[in-house]
Amino acid sequence: MTLRVGVIGVGYWGPNLVRNLSTSPLTEAAAVADVDPARARSTAAQWGVPVATTDPDEVLTSDGIDAVVITTPARTHAALATRALEAGKHVLVEKPLATSGDDGDRMVRLAAERDLVLMMDHTFCYTSTVRKIAELMHSGDLGKFRYYDSVRVNLGLIQDDIDVFWDLAPHDLSILEYILPETIVPVSVAAIGSDPLGVGHPCLGYLSLTMSDGSLAHVHLNWLSPTKIRTTIIGASKRMLVWDDLNPRQRLSIYDAGVETAPADESSRRSLLVSYRTGDMVAPALQEVEALQRVVTEFAESVAERRRPRTDGRAGLRVLRILEAAQQSIAAGGIPVALDGDAWRGGRE
Ligand SMILES: NC(=O)c1ccc[n+]([C@@H]2O[C@H](COP(=O)([O-])OP(=O)(O)OC[C@H]3O[C@@H](n4cnc5c(N)ncnc54)[C@H](O)[C@@H]3O)[C@@H](O)[C@H]2O)c1
Repeated sequence: MTLRVGVIGVGYWGPNLVRNLSTSPLTEAAAVADVDPARARSTAAQWGVPVATTDPDEVLTSDGIDAVVITTPARTHAALATRALEAGKHVLVEKPLATSGDDGDRMVRLAAERDLVLMMDHTFCYTSTVRKIAELMHSGDLGKFRYYDSVRVNLGLIQDDIDVFWDLAPHDLSILEYILPETIVPVSVAAIGSDPLGVGHPCLGYLSLTMSDGSLAHVHLNWLSPTKIRTTIIGASKRMLVWDDLNPRQRLSIYDAGVETAPADESSRRSLLVSYRTGDMVAPALQEVEALQRVVTEFAESVAERRRPRTDGRAGLRVLRILEAAQQSIAAGGIPVALDGDAWRGGRE
């Protein structure tokens, strides 16, 4: 049986979900709602969706709808998702899950109480590149994880409800969780941000996570960059990766390179011997599949099988907890803020 899905919010991102829902054999785009009537009408017309409305409640309460996708601005996610869950609908929500950890926590609990699926669109976790990185990491091919260093900058849309951290960092935080072994969890976050335009919140900033094994993850976020860069370097003991998401011909490069140290013997004037290894670079062939196609499939299958999706509400909540700690760190001038390890690990079970 196909899952009948209503999409709320069809601005920039929502139509991509409508397209994937209407082309998947597992789902049917049954309604779209947007407070902007022209957007609702044009998206519905383009993808043959039978219902176009300006009233989200028409979608949330309709008997003809099994599930709801929420692609509205972040400040509306908690209220819309809560109404959908209360009406017995499964929910796929855009990142970030909500604009506070407490709201996110209530949404996760409500979904569990009602035995409904609450899934995050953590899109990157469904790309072939991130799946390949996770495979390399989990198989041991890369060796021991050392660092994650990401640049995610462009001339971005200045959002009024969330800052650049809440807009862009969910991508890196969800990727990190997906690719790292479960034994490595973040223990503290430090962040600094800047608001050169005076919009009331940071438009650019730097976020660093210290992990439980001492390794480091760093993310550089900026809405005010003249060029778009989406490059991540992942260092590990056996191999290192460079992921350039804007280069479809070679998104991922695997370098057989490394740096090792050993104690020097007494005759040496140095206390440490450092050896460098630079071998071949390999660019693996990656299947070009639209990530949202996999997102929609995972949503439909998790509803059909009544199981937790790969990127469930808890994953969204863990991201919110880090973002809140980053906000505290920014307010305190960048000092590290400890993360609640129990909440992180407990939420993962
Ligand atoms: N996963 C990704 O890679 C990705 C990419 C872009 C955006 N997003 C997320 O998608 C969401 C939407 O972003 P966007 O760039 O499409 O924003 P947008 O402003 O272009 O579109 C939002 C739409 O929601 C409508 N809307 C606002 N409040 C509403 C309400 N209460 N009921 C019904 N409609 C309402 C607006 O009229 C607008 O058409 C955000 O959460 C954003 O973070 C995710």
